[in-house]
Amino acid sequence: MLNTIHNSLQRWYEVNGRHNLPWRTTNNPYKIYLSEIMLQQTQVKTVLERFYFPFLERFPTFLDVAHSDLDDVLKMWEGLGYYTRAKNLHAAAKQCQGILPTNASELLELPGIGRSTAHAISAFAYQEALPILDANVKRILHRYFAIEARDEKQLWKAAYELFDVRYPFEYNQAMMDIGSLVCLAKNPLCEVCPFEQGCKGKVSPLLYPQPKVKKIKPTRKRIIVVYKHNDKFALYQRKERFLHGLWGFMQYEELENNEGKLLGHITQQYSHFTLQAEIYVFDTDYVNEGCEWFTRSEIDLLSLSRADHKVLKLIY
Ligand code: ADE
Repeated sequence: MLNTIHNSLQRWYEVNGRHNLPWRTTNNPYKIYLSEIMLQQTQVKTVLERFYFPFLERFPTFLDVAHSDLDDVLKMWEGLGYYTRAKNLHAAAKQCQGILPTNASELLELPGIGRSTAHAISAFAYQEALPILDANVKRILHRYFAIEARDEKQLWKAAYELFDVRYPFEYNQAMMDIGSLVCLAKNPLCEVCPFEQGCKGKVSPLLYPQPKVKKIKPTRKRIIVVYKHNDKFALYQRKERFLHGLWGFMQYEELENNEGKLLGHITQQYSHFTLQAEIYVFDTDYVNEGCEWFTRSEIDLLSLSRADHKVLKLIY
């Protein structure tokens, strides 16, 4: 049975695989490694069109990375995001003096290289017989074995179980392609999938993996006071991590005295909470330390959070 599945996968890859991707037509471990790192949080198209080739032009070998300043590596990473990836790449180059190890277990010791990435580099560059386990492969395994739980250990076991030791390169590349072209998260194309015969989850693929329980976002209730005097308003610059550096009107959890006149309400969604605030205007020439007075046209030159822009709209 497994043999039939493996043959069907190989045939599918021959016909449908993305054979021309530049990191698939080389066995240079540095070029493969670079592609794997760039592809971790970024789509193939973006990496191909904007980042992979310029980086290789600037740093043709891993030794060039090892001899470079971090700032120069970061410059080539600019716009790609997740800059820790670039810092780790640079640190790894220094650590192994520009010469990558030739097996997964030593690759794993370098900063920024996790188990799946180590397996990918080693399988692609050196034909080491190891399976990968990235997000796409996980989804295939969840469905193929009808595994509901998002259990890393169980998935690694499944990854080895389905793996084709004869063809580490083709098997792993094919898994990536099926994950991104066929076994899609929302609309899996089971009718064209080479795993169709053996897939235990094909009757209801959307059950695997178990959908994530959506966390209910907490609501943060606040009172925002717009201190006003003549044609000026009091704002403070945030010192805390959240929205650091942006200017805003004073916010309170509670008011000791009912200050001023109610102007309205605003709501603002953040990734981890919803802000609901009552807005008051208070005419005074005294404000807390840390605030500064600005005219409306001066406020237009400051950086304000979205919530504070909403407050500003209520004033005018
Ligand atoms: N994403 C991560 N590695 C990849 C590869 N080798 N080909 C296509 N997409 C990938």
